[in-house]
Amino acid sequence: MKLNKLFGGLLGLGLALSLVACQTEIGPAGPTGPAGPQGPPGADGQNGAENCVDCHGSNQLITAKMFQWENSVHALGGHYARNTTSCAVCHTSQGFLERIETGAQVTAATIDDPLPQNCYTCHQIHSTYTQADWALTASDPVTLWEGGETRDIGKGNQCINCHQARIAAGLPVPGVAGTTEITSSHWGPHHGAQGTLFTGAGGYKVAGSTAYANSLHTTLVEDACITCHMAPVSGGRESGGHTFRVASETGTLNTNGCVQCHTDGANAVKDQVALTQTEIEDLLAQLADKLVAGGIFDANHELIPGTYDNVLAGAAYNYIFIEEDKSAGVHNAKYVRALLKNSIEALQ
Ligand code: HEC
Ligand code: HEC
Ligand code: HEC
Ligand code: HEC
Ligand code: HEC
Ligand code: HEC
Repeated sequence: MKLNKLFGGLLGLGLALSLVACQTEIGPAGPTGPAGPQGPPGADGQNGAENCVDCHGSNQLITAKMFQWENSVHALGGHYARNTTSCAVCHTSQGFLERIETGAQVTAATIDDPLPQNCYTCHQIHSTYTQADWALTASDPVTLWEGGETRDIGKGNQCINCHQARIAAGLPVPGVAGTTEITSSHWGPHHGAQGTLFTGAGGYKVAGSTAYANSLHTTLVEDACITCHMAPVSGGRESGGHTFRVASETGTLNTNGCVQCHTDGANAVKDQVALTQTEIEDLLAQLADKLVAGGIFDANHELIPGTYDNVLAGAAYNYIFIEEDKSAGVHNAKYVRALLKNSIEALQ
């Protein structure tokens, strides 16, 4: 570089001298001189790999979440094989992202190479290649498919886009007399109706002596599902965090998300859960007996297709709805109690 500069300087001087010498007779232009010296280096540009390292460095951030996720039912459940248009919107990652984009309840086509709910499903991975990519893909309030009411439960909105009841063809309207035709043993709210039940929607509210109300969980628990199901992990990766489990596979409850409110401690909250679940299971059993007696359920509590009185069909719907919620009342005990007690009463 220094040599180059010196050489360039000498060349420049030579050129200037020859110009002076030829002042009187201007001849044809000489050949283009050699290239000048290299300029100084430019200011530092943005380093492309710098942002990547925030996530893909040695901080093990992704590895830790991935390790937990691998023990989630999202990773292990196997139902991502449900990749046809009406199932792929919840059961495949690609179908879900398409639905969030289009607002439709079906995908345009069957999803090839289906994937289960993974990092890309819930986070805006590789949109900007910055930390902003951890933002959720579906944080807006959700208009429930069944009943059409809109719910806003903070970060829990991400979950209830999928964890909600699907429209049940021919669900009777409470208070309207008549009959309901049930054409399939799969009639009902489908699996995973948690978001609908948790927010106090979607039940068949038959009139009865128990007033309909929601538990304080539905309004007090910030970000709802996230606080209880993504609480700090317990037992390594048995539950909590990105396992999305509130209880381990063997049923040990993770109380890390509960004790901020249930201040009398982990054992007390476990006792409380046992109390609520025993009570709700008992009410479910009472209702099942009535549904078997009414001829709408077989002895295994499966639906028998047929045409039934609206109240009987609505009560059967409530039973399936509460069973499919799988929390046996913990999500919204007051609402579940009222649905069950009033359904039993209506079938006396
Ligand atoms: C906000 C965090 C974040 C940033 C920033 C980020 N990534 Fe990623 N990246 C992820 C996550 C999460 C995954 C998925 C992890 C997995 O599935 O193993 C991923 C996956 C990948 C993969 C594997 C892709 C595949 O299809 O399997 C590559 C390659 C990659 N990233 C490269 C990059 C590069 C290059 C940059 C910077 C230009 C970058 N990433 C920036 C979070 C990030
Ligand atoms: C894209 C749709 C989708 C989203 C978003 C989603 N889930 Fe799921 N979830 C599912 C499906 C489908 C299953 C069943 C997976 C299977 O069996 O393959 C499931 C399973 C689960 C299970 C296990 C259920 C069981 O029977 O053991 C839990 C717990 C759960 N999800 C919690 C959550 C939470 C909490 C969120 C929000 C942070 C969430 N899910 C977001 C679709 C979703
Ligand atoms: C079903 C939805 C869902 C899936 C799948 C999911 N996440 Fe998350 N993730 C969330 C939610 C919701 C939060 C916010 C939790 C909170 O606020 O406590 C979160 C938080 C995070 C954070 C903390 C973000 C921050 O702002 O600091 C990281 C990192 C993360 N997730 C990584 C991952 C990785 C890596 C994967 C794939 C292995 C993944 N997530 C899969 C829903 C999901
Ligand atoms: C609105 C979202 C959504 C749609 C659409 C949807 N599912 Fe699901 N499905 C779920 C969720 C959430 C679960 C997990 C529920 C749980 O374990 O509590 C699930 C679970 C299942 C299961 C496992 C049930 C079990 O008890 O293990 C099957 C089978 C299934 N779905 C089939 C289908 C089929 C077939 C379709 C299309 C006709 C479909 N689903 C459409 C959300 C959906
Ligand atoms: C107040 C805490 C709390 C909140 C908030 C909460 N859950 Fe749960 N959830 C539970 C408990 C406790 C169970 C029952 C666990 C058991 O009996 O093993 C449960 C059960 C479930 C199950 C059945 C599978 C399992 O893990 O046992 C799913 C799926 C589920 N919840 C999803 C959700 C979704 C989606 C939301 C948000 C709408 C939500 N939960 C909100 C505490 C909570
Ligand atoms: C934000 C505060 C808050 C959090 C977090 C919370 N709870 Fe609660 N919980 C309450 C309050 C307040 C009540 C009593 C009022 C009510 O039932 O409406 C209650 C009541 C209950 C009941 C009794 C319901 C009934 O009516 O039978 C159970 C069971 C329960 N909680 C379990 C849990 C579990 C398990 C967790 C954690 C996974 C949890 N709660 C997290 C505030 C909370």
